[in-house]
Amino acid sequence: MASFDPDTVRRQSVGIIGAGAAGLITAHILLQDGFERVQLLTRDRSVGGVWERRRIYPGIALNNVYGEFCFSSLPMPPPQDPMQKRLGGEDMCAYMEKFADSFLADPSKIRFETEVLNIRRAADSGWEVEVEDLRSKVKQVLVYDRIVLCTGGCSEPSIPESLSPDTAVKAGFHGLAIPDYSVLVVGGGKSAQEYGPFFTLRFVFTTRSISAFLTRLGVKVTVVFEKTDAFLAYPIELPQCLRKSRFLPIMASHSELRTRLGVCVGWRFLHTTWLGGKITRAFWDFLTWSSYKSLNIPEDSPLRNSHSLFWGIRTNEEGAGKRDSFHALCNEGKIKLVAPARVVKYTGDGESLLLSNGAEVKASAVILATGFGSSWTNIFTRETAKELGIGRHPPLADAEEYVWDYTSFRNPPSSNPRSQEWVSSIYRGIVPSRNIHRRDFAINGAFFTTNNGYAFEVMAHWISSYFLGDKMRLPSSPEEATKLSGKNAAWMRRRFPEMLLWVNESYSSDLAFWSWPQAMDDLLEDIGVPIMRSGGNWLTWPFKIITPAEIKNLREERRAKREADLNVVN
Ligand SMILES: Cc1cc2nc3c(=O)[nH]c(=O)nc-3n(C[C@H](O)[C@H](O)[C@H](O)COP(=O)(O)OP(=O)(O)OC[C@H]3O[C@@H](n4cnc5c(N)ncnc54)[C@H](O)[C@@H]3O)c2cc1C
Ligand SMILES: NC(=O)c1ccc[n+]([C@@H]2O[C@H](COP(=O)([O-])OP(=O)(O)OC[C@H]3O[C@@H](n4cnc5c(N)ncnc54)[C@H](OP(=O)(O)O)[C@@H]3O)[C@@H](O)[C@H]2O)c1
Repeated sequence: MASFDPDTVRRQSVGIIGAGAAGLITAHILLQDGFERVQLLTRDRSVGGVWERRRIYPGIALNNVYGEFCFSSLPMPPPQDPMQKRLGGEDMCAYMEKFADSFLADPSKIRFETEVLNIRRAADSGWEVEVEDLRSKVKQVLVYDRIVLCTGGCSEPSIPESLSPDTAVKAGFHGLAIPDYSVLVVGGGKSAQEYGPFFTLRFVFTTRSISAFLTRLGVKVTVVFEKTDAFLAYPIELPQCLRKSRFLPIMASHSELRTRLGVCVGWRFLHTTWLGGKITRAFWDFLTWSSYKSLNIPEDSPLRNSHSLFWGIRTNEEGAGKRDSFHALCNEGKIKLVAPARVVKYTGDGESLLLSNGAEVKASAVILATGFGSSWTNIFTRETAKELGIGRHPPLADAEEYVWDYTSFRNPPSSNPRSQEWVSSIYRGIVPSRNIHRRDFAINGAFFTTNNGYAFEVMAHWISSYFLGDKMRLPSSPEEATKLSGKNAAWMRRRFPEMLLWVNESYSSDLAFWSWPQAMDDLLEDIGVPIMRSGGNWLTWPFKIITPAEIKNLREERRAKREADLNVVN
């Protein structure tokens, strides 16, 4: 069993799998906290994960409001393109690289081009991590006392078997042989709109690809989807006190409606009274209407066949929109949309695909923007996954006893038919419930939110406190942790009825989309530091802008609390 004496813990080793945003901030916080032997492993050639240099391409932009991916120790530079209100892929990549250069410059700290093949518990204590050096092909087993899994929710492509490259070959799909050059994009998500996942591109063409991007190059693009992503757009940029404060989070509700501050009475009013419920839903209906209006989406456009802004998590920030964006190109008829429909299979004539509505579509190439599966599946054996408690299981029997009788939840959409199939029991989206007492394994990055910078940083602090054995609010037993995770899974199903299974567990073990500030307050409360940090009085507090600066001194705050707790014990 790993030690919980802070000084001993600091001398023990931590292996962090993944060098995306989550891995980088976790390593930085652990190092700041005095952990002496921290090592990041990534199969990539450089840092950044999704934003790694080889993955970004001209035109990709961050799908968040400016500043929502920023860590407290490194200011976010303005977008290089002054016409852009959001960071481009280049900006994000440069930010990740600068972060690593600034805080993780020691080359021994990161092992690149190292694929993790298997993680298992070592015989006595700690973890064995089997890796392969992707250059030399040499395999090796590394041993760590603790593991933080940061492999991300978008690193393992999910390809329907019926549309896979092998199936295409077997069906005699000609691809490039067809002279009238046209591309079929499968999916209604952001990848389909903007960015075809790189893996499929290698299969289809050697170029990176996307609907909007290809259309700008003059390629004929058809996109097939059942429902496309919702979006938030407005004619002029919203004031920060509305868009970057707790205003939207409050309108979105949370599993616990706080009652501490006077203004929280208003919060309860919005979600638990008849009138409040009406106001809340009218507000979201208005946002939906004004978003369509802002991007001039015609009433009969297939783009209106989108997920719900209120009930969904498939939402992209489009701001004031752009002239040659996906939506603009669709409006101009430059991208052909087929919806609602799914792509079923290759017809076998070498050039067409069959859709669920019976139609056939010809294409020179197919881009599968069909989402991602769990990045954990292949690195744990079934036995380890079970022992650790990281695998899937059916929803707990008592999950239905939890009821959130919010008046703002009237007329929910029907549940995803697969939503009763499985859940995962990852407490707070960070620790497999079954392993809660061992304090030797954690996950960062499996929390689905709109502000990854703030969330991943707070989670890194939570993980550090947890490893160090700090006094913190934790479930008293694995059983209690499992029960609480089950309750949270029930909340996610209630709050996002259509959605849960559309995101894999390595992306959304926990999920607080608009309401991330409240979820972060839960974590801050766990580690015993002040919450609701943006300041303001009972009236102004919901409109105060949330910035990473408010968590900049968390390390010192946690240290002071640790010392105070030790003094009480002594
Ligand atoms: C194209 C695209 C665009 C996106 N845009 C946005 C956006 O605009 N806004 C937003 O909020 N979210 C966006 N996302 C979601 C994205 O997943 C998160 O923004 C964020 O990058 C996740 O960070 P992460 O560190 O958790 O994971 P990642 O960035 O995916 O990093 C995962 C790391 O784990 C490593 N890894 C995985 N498996 C292994 C293994 N077996 N062995 C070794 N290393 C491994 C990878 O090499 C990588 O270093 C996007 C996703 C995609 C695919
Ligand atoms: N910043 C950016 O510009 C950017 C770019 C890309 C991705 N992202 C982010 O990355 C994450 C993943 O996005 P993603 O778009 O890759 O995946 P995704 O959101 O999971 O979308 C996959 C889409 O493919 C559809 N699909 C699957 N099989 C299909 C079939 N046979 N026929 C038709 N449609 C099919 C799915 O529909 P069903 O759900 O109905 O199966 C879904 O709409 C998201 O959080 C997204 O915001 C951001």
